[in-house]
Formats: sequence, C-alpha cells, structure tokens
Amino acid sequence: MLYLVVCAAPPAQAIAELIGLLQEKNWTVCVIATPRAAGWMDISALADKTGRPVRDEYQGPDDSESLPRADVIAVAPATFNTVNKWVAGISDTFALGLLNEAIGLRLPIVVAPYAKSSLAAHPAYARSLQTLSEWGVTVLPNEAIRVGAARDVFDWRPVVDALDGV
Ligand SMILES: Cc1cc2nc3c(=O)[nH]c(=O)nc-3n(C[C@H](O)[C@H](O)[C@H](O)COP(=O)(O)O)c2cc1C
Repeated sequence: MLYLVVCAAPPAQAIAELIGLLQEKNWTVCVIATPRAAGWMDISALADKTGRPVRDEYQGPDDSESLPRADVIAVAPATFNTVNKWVAGISDTFALGLLNEAIGLRLPIVVAPYAKSSLAAHPAYARSLQTLSEWGVTVLPNEAIRVGAARDVFDWRPVVDALDGV
C-alpha cells in the first residue's frame, strides 16, 4: 500500500501518469491531496483509477472511515509550503498530519520537491530538505521530475526508481 501525497504544484495536474506507473509496479495506490492540490486534480477520475477515494480533508469527530496502513509514502510534487510546514511539525492539512505521523512511525518516504528557483533559494527550504534527509527520508533533487521548460510534461522515473530502492 503506497500513499501518494500530492501538493499544489503543476505536476499535480498530471499525477494520473505517476499513478499508472506505480500500478504497473504492483503498488496499491491511495491518493492523499492537500486541499489546494485537490482543486487542481480530477478527484473522481483518480478515485476510479485507484479504486479508493482521494482524501484531502480531516474527517469529522463522528466519522469512522480509516485508511489502510501504508507500507511506503511518496510525496510528489512536494511544495515549498508543505515541505517547510512538515519539518516544523505543523499538521493543518490531512496530508501533513499523515506525513508527521509517518516520521514518527519511521515509514519509508520518498519526496519529490518541486519549487521554482526563487523559492528554492530561500534558506528555509534547503534546511527543511536537509532535515528530512537526516530523518531518513529519501529526498530527490528539487524539480527532479521537471522536463526542461515543459509545463505539462514530467519525468516520473526518479520517483518510481527511488521507491524501488526503499
Ligand atoms: C499556478 C501556480 C503554480 C504554483 N507552482 C508552485 C510550485 O511549483 N511549487 C510550489 O512550491 N508552490 C507552487 N505554487 C504555490 C502553492 O500552490 C501554494 O504555496 C499552496 O499554498 C501550496 O499548498 P500545499 O502545500 O498545501 O499544497 C503555485 C501556485 C500557483 C497558483
């Protein structure tokens, strides 16, 4: 069971491609979107593709549906915002709550950070990515999934390959 955490950056719009590649590798994929990313994706098509609802919000106190336990987590794309909040231990989205728990549970995690150069140059970002590495998270280079100047084409192989290695 692989949780695919999707943040609000352009690769979110093509995330069905990554899901297909992961399914070819026999992963059962469960998509967790940040609330902003959910607005960028076709949630019902992704639910059909994975056979599971896309989760983007915390449940209410009386809801009982729980997720199956994850064996591994991929965060792709991982935004500047979510990376920095994650390292600070902030859990104000369902996705961050899962990611914070995953650190405590020592689950294998692969992160594909995706931030434009002006954000990537912010000192907090490098520090956050370094901290994630120190916590045992596999952190790909920033924008490893970018293909040149293309806005809607992504190279998902670094994510798939890194998951093969965890
Ligand atoms: C068109 C557009 C493109 C964006 N691209 C990126 C991006 O590549 N990387 C990034 O970190 N944030 C990007 N952002 C900003 C994030 O969407 C914003 O920080 C958001 O709050 C992130 O929420 P999340 O981390 O909960 O998904 C973009 C925003 C817009 C409107």
